[in-house]
Amino acid sequence: MLKRVLTISLALLMACSAERPVTSTSRAFEGSLGTPVPKAAAPKLARYAMVVSAHPEASKIGTQILQRGGNAYDAAVAVQFALAVVLPVAGNIGGGGFLLYRDRNGSAGSLDFRETAPTAASRDMYLDKAGNVVPGLSTAGPLAVGTPGTVAGMVTLHKQLGKLSWPTLLQPAVALATRGFVLTTKEAAGLNRTKAEFQKYNPGNVPAYVRPGGGDWQPGDTLRLPELARTLTRIRDQGRAGFYRGETARLLLAEMKRGGGLVSQADLDGYRAKWREPLRGRYRDYDVITMPPPSSGGVALLQMLQMLEPVDLAQAGYHTPLAVHYITEAERRAYADRATYLGDPDFGLVPTQKLLDVDYNHQRAGSMRSRGRASASSEVTAGANLPSYESDQTTHYSIVDALGNAVSCTTTLNGAYGSKVVVPGAGFLLNNEMDDFSAKAGVPNSYGLVGGTANAIAPGKRMLSSMTPTILTRNGRVALVTGSPGGSTIITSVLQSILGIVDYGLNAQQVVTAPRLHHQWLPDVLDVEAGALLPAAQDTLRARGYRPQPRLPWGRLDIIHVLPDGTLEGGADPRGDDTAVGY
Ligand code: DON
Repeated sequence: MLKRVLTISLALLMACSAERPVTSTSRAFEGSLGTPVPKAAAPKLARYAMVVSAHPEASKIGTQILQRGGNAYDAAVAVQFALAVVLPVAGNIGGGGFLLYRDRNGSAGSLDFRETAPTAASRDMYLDKAGNVVPGLSTAGPLAVGTPGTVAGMVTLHKQLGKLSWPTLLQPAVALATRGFVLTTKEAAGLNRTKAEFQKYNPGNVPAYVRPGGGDWQPGDTLRLPELARTLTRIRDQGRAGFYRGETARLLLAEMKRGGGLVSQADLDGYRAKWREPLRGRYRDYDVITMPPPSSGGVALLQMLQMLEPVDLAQAGYHTPLAVHYITEAERRAYADRATYLGDPDFGLVPTQKLLDVDYNHQRAGSMRSRGRASASSEVTAGANLPSYESDQTTHYSIVDALGNAVSCTTTLNGAYGSKVVVPGAGFLLNNEMDDFSAKAGVPNSYGLVGGTANAIAPGKRMLSSMTPTILTRNGRVALVTGSPGGSTIITSVLQSILGIVDYGLNAQQVVTAPRLHHQWLPDVLDVEAGALLPAAQDTLRARGYRPQPRLPWGRLDIIHVLPDGTLEGGADPRGDDTAVGY
């Protein structure tokens, strides 16, 4: 009861204080500053099942597995390994990720196959003698590599929930790597852009990702990956041991030795994927299921939704200064908490319960300035400042099968092509996930994120993540499967996908196409993708204390919206080669 009173009074407070007395004239003024509803291609529709991923081949393979009688979990395994072939920039076996599922029987679970810091890692390993972060050490080359989790994750998933045989799920990826596949314009450009780094970080070894005979890859070229095909064959035939032991492990450890990396056989043997209890929350008519720590994504997402619940966003308008104010202030507060409190829960107390307390978040929301004015990040909590963005590369896939099981999985090497190290003879890229730790308290990482002791490096510890695989249900049935890459922007992209569906009534393709906004507390700027805000809205926001700044496109939302009649509506992000396939 008390909560309800608080909610209502907070709603009133916000409605009254955020703008001058809400008269029809001021509402009309605010509305005139809104962005028109985004234009987008028609969403992909399907009756029974759907896969949305970052590559057409992977979506096709996932759908074929479903048509052959596999369930959503089987399809996830096949898609994960297919992406490791056709999407070298982010698809992987040398990285990690988080998978969230919601079963038709109502149960839900989350699988943490995040990389871990090698046993030989230590808190100050990226600092020089003077205690300063050595640039580049945590972002490229063998020292940036965490113990990979992907293969263990897929084996664990398959054991618990899979239906088809393991080799059946691996074979399409083996075939793709052996036969080769046609490079898209975007992937060819990515590989060409990274050529010098592939050469730098693979001395004495020319990875297959560098065009044989020199010159640039052209869209339409076929990329064959024979070494990767052999590694995938070992995984197909030996399961976990095909990666963490034997020939693959030998080749990986040889590269660690050559380049001064820290991953050891003991690290490989000791790696375990972990089932974790997903976080649950409520937003309007929906139940929200999302990823717990060591992702910060689920906590921050639920905090923001709690702060926004009392606000009538639809009434505030789409991307109006008033709506942007509410959303940005919620983001600022959630990211400030992220920096202070979040890290691997197996290594220290993460106060998840407190952070997800409705009263706590409503109280935080109550400090939003009146009349739509910005709070200063320095007032929300003290911290450092230094923006720096790397290319946005991770990948997400969403799957719903004909029985109603749903999978939402985000997986990554961290930066584009991870550490840029390709294991000689084994043909797979290694992650640079170690950069997601806080190398030094208060010093921003690749995504401009700051952290403290909760996310300091320790042997065996998982680095904090922003990956936010999320599933919404309504009246007990899956309603939305969502997720995105984008480093620190992942959480706000996922938030915007939920607001797009729930508050603004957009369709799935509009949601993923719509230009986005992002604020992460520090740096205290509002990132604006082209077309997200009208120029007049930006002027108004500037006058209210915000600092909008243009930023190149980010994120790749791949979502499935289940309509009330059961139709699956797919949204595949047009910023990449993302594709929805269904039947
Ligand atoms: O786990 C994380 O939060 C990051 N390693 C994700 C990196 C990412 O999304 C890169 N960009 N798309």
